[in-house]
Amino acid sequence: MNATSAMIAPPEFILDDSDDVKSSSAIVLIVDDCTRNIQIVGSILTEAGYEVMPATSGRQALARIVNQLPDLILLDLMMPEIDGMEVCRRLKNDPATQEIPVIFLTASSETGHLVEAFESGAVDYVTKPFNAMELLARVKTHLELKQNREALQRYANQLREMNNEKNELMSIAAHDLRNPLNNLMSCIEMIRPESSPADERQESLFEIMTNSVDHMLQLVNNLLDVNAIESGKWQLNLTRCDLREILVDVVNSYDNKAAAKQQSLILDCPLTALPADLDFTGATEVIGNLISNAIKYSPPGKAIQIRADSNEDRIRIEVQDQGPGLTPEDKTRLFGKFARLSARPTANEPSTGLGLSIVKKMVELMNGSVGCESEPGHGATFFVEWPTPESDPLPEPSSVELYTTS
Ligand SMILES: Nc1ncnc2c1ncn2[C@@H]1O[C@H](COP(=O)(O)OP(=O)(O)OP(=O)(O)O)[C@@H](O)[C@H]1O
Ligand SMILES: [Mg+2]
Repeated sequence: MNATSAMIAPPEFILDDSDDVKSSSAIVLIVDDCTRNIQIVGSILTEAGYEVMPATSGRQALARIVNQLPDLILLDLMMPEIDGMEVCRRLKNDPATQEIPVIFLTASSETGHLVEAFESGAVDYVTKPFNAMELLARVKTHLELKQNREALQRYANQLREMNNEKNELMSIAAHDLRNPLNNLMSCIEMIRPESSPADERQESLFEIMTNSVDHMLQLVNNLLDVNAIESGKWQLNLTRCDLREILVDVVNSYDNKAAAKQQSLILDCPLTALPADLDFTGATEVIGNLISNAIKYSPPGKAIQIRADSNEDRIRIEVQDQGPGLTPEDKTRLFGKFARLSARPTANEPSTGLGLSIVKKMVELMNGSVGCESEPGHGATFFVEWPTPESDPLPEPSSVELYTTS
């Protein structure tokens, strides 16, 4: 069909004003206050196999769409009462209709309005008098684009569902493994001779068993943490905590691990309380992770400094070690999941590569930020900052307490 033949309305298309247009093929709504134009465009589309839904005003178009959603809309730009741009704006503001592609039908004298027309949400335009091939090509392209977008959306939804199912499965498996592993650890501790092991071989077997179960427990706990955070199920309970108290407790809990590597943990923090609005368990886990890394990646005999200070804006915690530090490449991947980088554990400790990704997510959920300063070969300083709570101003740190273990 060419432009000339398009101007003649074939007899089979009859303008139907009823609201009852139903079809299994693509439905195109044609909105034009000139019924002749509707007949011409309608005939071109009907001949090409489309289902046509006519409307002679913006108001009628909006009313018809309520009963039947078209797949595409051909919309006259200039119409009395509600013009094409206003119809388009209303459609784009309604979630039920905003995905329907709108192509404007414009007279060549109206092309000055095209920028505004596109801003209202249209995807394309066709100028009158209509060229049938061009009209059909544009309709076909935008219907295909719409179908592709819908297919992508369906795939994305399917992927999201499958990912949720996988997370659910992983979480059930991890959860059900935790109890037996804890039982196993208790049994190993119960049968392990308390002093003077029978022989070196037996002692080394106990060591292997303890480390293996410890590794599995750590992996299971990390997977449960990641899953809880990513599925939004992590129970965040922000309360006023004393960060100083948390620091002292965590440093004490890592005392034995550091001592086993002849490392010293030096805590340098104000003597007075450090109030912060945090999740107590989360903050304990965050600081524990950073200290555990400092111990794990530092060679034996080194010192690890844990500092805390605050001003009226923020509280800053630092964990500084004398380990191998991080390369620029390491830094880009540091807080990603399963990031096992250049530094390897110096005493065969377990390493799942999940700890810092959990730290970052937990810190951010608690309105803070985390980072790392390091030069390769010169140790690393990990820091966490949380906002100083507004009410309850901080007491001036009167002096500084130095706490050293090992
Ligand atoms: N203090 C540090 N010094 C040097 N490298 C570090 C330090 N902390 C972390 N890294 C590097 O970053 C990687 C990721 O650390 P992350 O804590 O996420 O995992 P992990 O320690 O391997 O395992 P886990 O899940 O048990 O914490 C580590 O494998 C290590 O290579
Ligand atoms: Mg770690």
